This record gives sequence, C-alpha cells and structure tokens, in this order.
Amino acid sequence: MKKIPKVVVVGSTNTDMVIKSSRIPTSGETIVGGDFFLAAGGKGANQAVAAARLGAVVQFVSKIGSDALGDQAVSAYEKEGIDIDLIVRDQSNPTGVALIMVDQEGENAISVASGANHAFYESELERASPAIREADVLVLQLELPLPVVSLAAKIASRANVPVILDPAPAPQGSLPESLLGDITCIKPNSSEAESLTGIQIFDQSSAERAARILLEMGPSCAIITMGSMGALVMDKTNTIMCSPMKIRSIDSTGAGDAFTGAFAFGWALGLTIEGAALLGCQAGAYAATKEGAQPSLPTLSDLKRFTLAAGAEWILT
Ligand code: RIB
Repeated sequence: MKKIPKVVVVGSTNTDMVIKSSRIPTSGETIVGGDFFLAAGGKGANQAVAAARLGAVVQFVSKIGSDALGDQAVSAYEKEGIDIDLIVRDQSNPTGVALIMVDQEGENAISVASGANHAFYESELERASPAIREADVLVLQLELPLPVVSLAAKIASRANVPVILDPAPAPQGSLPESLLGDITCIKPNSSEAESLTGIQIFDQSSAERAARILLEMGPSCAIITMGSMGALVMDKTNTIMCSPMKIRSIDSTGAGDAFTGAFAFGWALGLTIEGAALLGCQAGAYAATKEGAQPSLPTLSDLKRFTLAAGAEWILT
C-alpha cells in the first residue's frame, strides 16, 4: 500500500452562508427564527479538504476572487496543508458564494452564485497539467465550466491517472460521451443518478439498474450514494452495498463531498474500490452529524473513533 496518497482536485471554492431553521421555506414564504453561520464550502474545496484531513497530499486547482472571501479561503487551505500553487485569483469576478438553508432533519436547499468558478478557462488549466499527470487520483465535480472539467479528465486519462467524477450539481441533460469515456469512477447521489440515467432510485435493485447504465456510458466503476440507504458500488466484476451507519443527521451539507474526498484518499492509498467506498460511507456519515461543509470533515483519527464507536468495520490499520 502506498504511504502518501497524492490527490489532485480541480473544482470550486465557495463561501457558504447558512441558515438553519425549522424547515425550508417554500417559494414566496418568509420564515423567521433561524440561526446563521458562515462556513468554508464549494464541492471541489470540500473534497480537497476531506482528502487532506485524512492524510493525502492534496493539490487544489480552483479559481477564486481577489476579495476578502477569497483571501480567507486561501489561508484556510494553507492551514489544511493543501498545495495552493495552482489556485488562480480572478481580478474581475468575486469568490463563489452559496446560500444554504438547512432544516431540522438536516436536509438542505442550496443556491450558488458561482462568480470566479464560472470564469475558469481551459487555458488556465494548462499550468496544472504536470500535477494532474503525476497524481494517484484526479477528482472532479460539475461546479466548474464543463470544458475545463473535460480537459482535466482528458489530461489525466491520457496519463493513465484514475479520474473520479462526482457529477454534482446534477447536470442539465446528459454529459458528453467524450467526458464519460475519460472517467474511471462516477459517483452520483440518487437524484444525480436519476438525472443521468432516467431511473428513479428507491432501492438496491433500481440503483443497480442505474449503475449498469452508468457503466455502459464509459466509466469502469459507478457508486450511487443513497443517504440513509447506504451506497451501491458496481464495477465490471462486483456489485456490493455499503450498509448505512445509524446516525442522527444534523446537517447533510458536504456529506457527499466527504464521501468523495475519503474515497479518493482510500483509492489513492491503494485500497480496493470497495474498501475506499466503505471509507467514503463512513466519512459521509460522520459529516452529516456535524454542521457546515468543511467544519464537518473528519481527520483520520476522528473517523476511526466514530466508526469503531458505531460498531462498524475499520479497514485501515
Ligand atoms: O456539496 C456542498 C456544497 O455545495 C456547499 O459547500 C456549497 O458551497 C455548494 O457548492
């Protein structure tokens, strides 16, 4: 097993502005009485921090405004030990912001003003090519422009670097075949899997049908996370279910990112896909028990303690 997994994440940076209240208001409705907090977020950043906290060497490729929120994000990455050399500062667009509402059950609704994330150009990715080619694993999501995501996947797949795509937020319509052909493992949640395959997922067998369609699209592995139902992991030879951990969800924001970051860490470390997915499930469950996106991500010792306390299997020594 490798000693120091090297993970490159190409993805978004956001500042999350969160209100936690009894329920999420409907359109046109005002609800008073919630609690507010600011937290570091962005799907790319959350996944980079998740992998770094567990012990990966992480290089994060992101575009951030030249503003106070951007300065805060960069100094937070430095404190996490994340390599920030490939972060681009945008002179004209602000740092991404996400407005997040969380209800009593920990469910959320998110609206993102992408800012600098959506002004990331393919030409700005060239500088990251050597790092991508040398990574053990490349991690991508869909909060950056699709041409940038596709180019990053192409650079990695040409260098035989495994590519994980977390197709979130759910794409409007199908993803380009050329991108899917460069993805090694695709990791949607149930609703993202539904928008990619047209299959509504409500149990293991519907998840299996959707995963089979995802594999036909190009990736050699598909993982569908199903919240309290656990996760289905399918590759060309095996299908397994990761059983859910019994937790009380406080805030599910960032739980999917915790899964992806931990999965990337485990896979880069040399675990099997099933082993890395188990670690991902445990990290996702941990994150749902805490508030915020990045504040809820575990270190390796946090995760080990949490997993053993829940009576679940800990696969790392
Ligand atoms: O996946 C959670 C993330 O989605 C939040 O941190 C928010 O910034 C949005 O990007």
